[in-house]
Amino acid sequence: MEGEDKTCRRVTATAYLLTRLRVLLLVTHFSPALFDHSCLSASYYGNFNDGPLTNSIFLPDVACLDAWSAQALAAQASIAEATKDIQQLVWVEQEAVEPSLMAATRSFRNEFDAFLHRLSRPKHARGQEVLGVPERKMGYELLYRTPTAALLSVSAATARSIDTILPRFWKSTLVSTTPVSFLPVPADAVKHVKHILSTLEFNPEIAAIVDSISVPQMINDIRFLTGEDDVSGIMSRHSFSDGSRVAADWLKSRFEDTGATCEPQPFLLGFAPNVICAYPSTVNTSATVLLSAHYDSRGSFGSTRAPGGDDDGSGTMALLAIARTIARKGIKFQSNVQLAAFAGEEQGLLGSKAYARKMRDIDANITVMIQADMLAYRAEGEPPQLGLPSTVGTTEVTQLVANVSGIYSPELRVGFTTACCSDHQSFHEQGFPATQVFERAGPIADPMYHNSGDLSDREGYDFDQVKSIAKVQLATLLHSAGYEL
Ligand SMILES: *[C@@H]1O[C@H](CO)[C@@H](O)[C@H](O)[C@H]1NC(C)=O
Ligand SMILES: *[C@@H]1O[C@H](CO)[C@@H](O)[C@H](O)[C@H]1NC(C)=O
Ligand SMILES: *[C@@H]1O[C@H](CO)[C@@H](O)[C@H](O)[C@H]1NC(C)=O
Ligand SMILES: [Zn+2]
Repeated sequence: MEGEDKTCRRVTATAYLLTRLRVLLLVTHFSPALFDHSCLSASYYGNFNDGPLTNSIFLPDVACLDAWSAQALAAQASIAEATKDIQQLVWVEQEAVEPSLMAATRSFRNEFDAFLHRLSRPKHARGQEVLGVPERKMGYELLYRTPTAALLSVSAATARSIDTILPRFWKSTLVSTTPVSFLPVPADAVKHVKHILSTLEFNPEIAAIVDSISVPQMINDIRFLTGEDDVSGIMSRHSFSDGSRVAADWLKSRFEDTGATCEPQPFLLGFAPNVICAYPSTVNTSATVLLSAHYDSRGSFGSTRAPGGDDDGSGTMALLAIARTIARKGIKFQSNVQLAAFAGEEQGLLGSKAYARKMRDIDANITVMIQADMLAYRAEGEPPQLGLPSTVGTTEVTQLVANVSGIYSPELRVGFTTACCSDHQSFHEQGFPATQVFERAGPIADPMYHNSGDLSDREGYDFDQVKSIAKVQLATLLHSAGYEL
């Protein structure tokens, strides 16, 4: 106990000195109990993943830190410091990928240091130059670092394009510039999902519907999205590219062909829009089931080609395959149904964050949300698989998807993946029941991940696996929303 007291005082004294010139950041393991401290909840900036760990970031004032410091020590919080001219905080983390894939790249330390070097070049620090930040501070401030994650302060311009200079197996998330609310998924929403799960049983009509998903159609669709068909002219679907605009227009038209009403929803200047499509409900209800994927992509460092065949052309074509099946079978839903193709995923879930916030602002009743991200790659010698998130997501929705898979796609080996986190995180954070479907019960194994060679016509790209997972998505939709033919 004595030791603990001493350390408390040290934390407090440091906090006092630092706040004169600096901003304090607390990075601590996430726990709902943290939000019992009102001053902490008021200074919460979100949750960020580091491998299997979830960290919460707070920017508390000194009094708050004082009041909380004993628990802070117990929770092994880190206190980072930043200069007051923080522009944009960015969390960067290493993806969960197979060690054999990693071995092909340079060591972590070299990759990360090379990244910091790229960040420090003036090209990426224009925003800070304008504000007269001394040259030695140009580029970035490194505020927190573990072997597999880091928190940086960079200019707003750098933050938005940071994915173009990140090492291949790293991804970034922008930290909000204002405090956010911690919104757990309400017990009532979980109860609703549990109810769907408890009444789940094989329905031959649903089996016939999902079995009719067309693989040849998926092959046509993906070849348009990747530019492999030589018709679309798409070289890249990176959110800033011309190809992403072509893809957005095309997706809108294709979804509308199936009877949906679609709206391109811009969310940030310079980014391609989210494409949000909706089918009406036959009954008067607020209940809404949302299936999604991200249509933006990322290629090799330094290359303008970003076909995104697997990431996430595969999730996007599955969504389209589901829409085409809805139309072909003349399905009407007894809930509102939305199909969303998000952009800005590769820059830190930006499109889905904007849309999830919008849904929260109007108090939407999203009862089930499923994001499909990377469905196609199957390593040689492995069975077709369905990976479900082991860290971020609503356990009950994940269980629902697992059980639906057992019923309608028994050919899939279902398991957990630490590959984390796609657009479902944005919805989960806003208190909506959400999960993700992924191609593997384990880390990422696709050798073309974030690579300009991520085409659909290649070894390991398995359309049958995509169909099996799309069957799970559509069956979950039909069971959750209710339908008529
Ligand atoms: C889900 O499937 C598992 C494994 O088949 C089964 O044990 C469990 O009872 C199912 N859950 C529900 C709620 O049906
Ligand atoms: C639908 O239900 C809401 C809430 O119960 C009600 O206010 C609204 O009038 C209903 N709309 C129609 C078209 O019946
Ligand atoms: C949301 O929809 C579900 C399913 O119809 C319903 O049980 C629940 O009461 C609705 N929630 C709200 C807040 O309207
Ligand atoms: Zn992705």
